[in-house]
Amino acid sequence: MDPRLQRRVQRYGWDKAVGDYETGWRQQLEPAQSLLLDMLAARPGERVLEVACGTGLVSFRVIDAVGEQGSVVGTDISGEMVEAARRLAAERGITNAKFERADAEDLKLDGDVFDAAICALGLMYVPDPVQALGEMRRRLKPGGRIAAAVWGARANCGWAEIFPITDARVASEVCPMFFHLGTGDMLAHSFAAAGCTDIRTERLAVKLSYPSEDDALAAAFRGGPVALAYSRFDDATKRAVHAEYLQSITDYRVEQGYEIPGEFVVAAGANS
Ligand SMILES: C[S@@+](CC[C@H](N)C(=O)[O-])C[C@H]1O[C@@H](n2cnc3c(N)ncnc32)[C@H](O)[C@@H]1O
Repeated sequence: MDPRLQRRVQRYGWDKAVGDYETGWRQQLEPAQSLLLDMLAARPGERVLEVACGTGLVSFRVIDAVGEQGSVVGTDISGEMVEAARRLAAERGITNAKFERADAEDLKLDGDVFDAAICALGLMYVPDPVQALGEMRRRLKPGGRIAAAVWGARANCGWAEIFPITDARVASEVCPMFFHLGTGDMLAHSFAAAGCTDIRTERLAVKLSYPSEDDALAAAFRGGPVALAYSRFDDATKRAVHAEYLQSITDYRVEQGYEIPGEFVVAAGANS
C-alpha cells in the first residue's frame, strides 16, 4: 500500500472512530497498557513523549506517574483524537499535558529532551514502524527509555477476520501489515533496527469481553481501524459484514456476548 494512502486512511479512519473508541476498547486494552506502563516505569518529574496517543488513555496514566513536576507531550495523526485528548485534559484540569497532531514517522519536534517515549497500540498502523521508533528514540535524552505495545500474532487474535471481511469490499487493504510486528521477534528486531539497546519483550494473552453482539460489532466496525471503510458501506453491506464477523467469532460466544482471545507484545529498550 502506498504509505501516503495508508496515513490518510489512518488519519480519517480514526477521526471517524473517536466517538466509539473508548467504549469499545478501553477495557480491552487496559492489560496491555498496564504492562506497557510498568515496563516504561515513568518516574515523578519526568518528561514523556507519547506517539499515537489517541484520546489519551495512556497519556493520563503517565501524567499520574510523573506528577505535577513532570509533563507529557502526546501526538497522533488524527486531528479528532488530538481534540478529544485536549478536551479531556481541560475537563480534568490537567495543564502539564500537551497534545499535537503529528505523523509518528515525522514528529516535527526538535531536540533530545524527553526522559522516556511510549507508544500504545499505534505502531501496527504506521507505514514504517522502524522509522517511527527511530523518531521516538532521537527525541530521548542519552539513557532515555522507550516502550511500545502492539497486537500479537494473527493466530492468537480471535477478532482478526475483521480485516479480510472489510478488505473484500474496499479498493485497498485497510491495515496490510497489522499483525507483522506481533509475530515472532519482529517488535524486538524493530527496536534494534531503530538503534535501541537493552531490549526486553513480553507477550500477554487476554480475553476481550463484549456483553452483547452489538457491543462486539460496535468495537470492531465503528471504534477501530476499519471505521472509515465501514462508514462508507450501504446498509446491505453493513448487514453482510456484521453477519460474517459474528460468524467468525462464533466459537467465542458466552451467554449473550463474547470472550474473544487476544494477544499483545510489549517491548522496552533504551537510548544509550
Ligand atoms: C488503537 S489507537 C491507540 C490510542 C492510544 N495509544 C491508546 O492506547 O488508547 C491507535 C492510534 O494510532 C493513531 N495512528 C495511526 N497511524 C498513525 C501515524 N502514522 N502516526 C501517528 N498516529 C497514528 C490513530 O490515529 C489512533 O489514535
